Amino acid sequence: MKLAFITGITGQDGSYLAEFLLEKNYKVFGIQRRTSLFNTSRIDHIRNKITMRYGDMSDGSGLSRYIHTIIQDNKGFEVFEIYNLAAQSHVKISFEIPEYTSDVDGMGVMRLLEIIRTLPQDIRLKVKFYQAGTSELYGRNTKAPQNELTEFCPVSPYACAKLYAYHMVKTYRQGYGLFLVNGILFNHESPRRGENFVTMKIVNGIKRILSPNAIINNEKTYIELGNLYSKRDWGHAKDYVRGMWQMLQQVLPSDYVLATGKTYTVKDFVNKAFEYKGVKLFWYGEKEKEVATDKNGVIRVKINPKYYRPNEVDLLLGDPTKAKSELGWTPEFDTLDKLIKDMFN
Ligand code: NAP
Ligand code: GDD
Repeated sequence: MKLAFITGITGQDGSYLAEFLLEKNYKVFGIQRRTSLFNTSRIDHIRNKITMRYGDMSDGSGLSRYIHTIIQDNKGFEVFEIYNLAAQSHVKISFEIPEYTSDVDGMGVMRLLEIIRTLPQDIRLKVKFYQAGTSELYGRNTKAPQNELTEFCPVSPYACAKLYAYHMVKTYRQGYGLFLVNGILFNHESPRRGENFVTMKIVNGIKRILSPNAIINNEKTYIELGNLYSKRDWGHAKDYVRGMWQMLQQVLPSDYVLATGKTYTVKDFVNKAFEYKGVKLFWYGEKEKEVATDKNGVIRVKINPKYYRPNEVDLLLGDPTKAKSELGWTPEFDTLDKLIKDMFN
């Protein structure tokens, strides 16, 4: 019997990972936060196949009780994989709630590591742990492509918290001989992406402004964005959750970059997404005054400086050579066009 515990199971990655592990016959456990509205829409279709309990990364004793209960109730299990995907994952919002972000994304990881470290040895040997690390760690280091050896230079509270988590994973791995892995994942998107990340905001925005209702209801005919010139290496979440699992199937734990090895500006994404819906954009102006119109002169994109960040990460471009050679990982969504098509459909 294989067990998997996923924090962040209600999120984009968690929901795909849960589906993936169920197909591999894992018994899947997860936590959900207490929120005033239900937050399980991404996993409702598999709800009867997984075991859920309320939990929060800020509540170490609750996490500990749940992990011990899973172990007690499933004696004789073969392996227990813990995927720590829970996080306050929005970079800009981390500037507004830095303390909370540090607690959940940084200290939360330490709480899980301590729970694992203090398990009885026979159990501990069967536990494998995945930490959701991020390409945001590279921050201002624009040396590219970025791989497992590239220096980190975080520039947001989110990335600083993730850097603490990254080093705690390495420290506990080296110090206590635990099977702990950092995935250093570049941006990955999907139809399940949260609505305030730029790709989903663009896709949903285009759907909204091009729908006949927009004219009937006299709604905005354009989308508002911040910095159009940062570059991101965008892949598909389905490919990346497969990579997480592959990392935990290795004989020895190590850290891996997952990326497509291609980078595009936000503006490239905007152009391609509009093109997918048959609209060619024409750009005018500079900085805050920059706008894009369609062929009829209707404004389709405007800049709103409120979406700028105190610090920007200008360039992310990953080198997934190690994951390809050691894990045999290859992304099926290997072009931005395929990703955009999937997000629209
Ligand atoms: P996501 O959609 O924002 O999901 C985050 C998950 O964490 C949700 O299930 C959320 O619960 C949960 N969560 C947030 N705060 C929590 C707390 N205090 N206690 C317990 N759970 C909490 O993020 P994602 O895109 O799936 O990313 C998964 C992980 O990978 C995150 O750690 C993220 O930082 C990291 N990562 C993501 C990317 C990417 O491009 N997607 C790249 C690199 C690393 P609710 O559903 O209740 O909000
Ligand atoms: N969200 C957002 N909204 N971003 C915008 C906007 C906007 O209106 N306009 C421009 N951008 C720019 C941001 O300034 C950033 O440079 C880029 O679009 C991507 O922003 P996000 O989609 O919010 O993602 P991110 O790169 O900051 O962070 C994501 O990827 C990280 C891995 O590199 C998140 O998923 C993180 O959790 C993840 O670690």
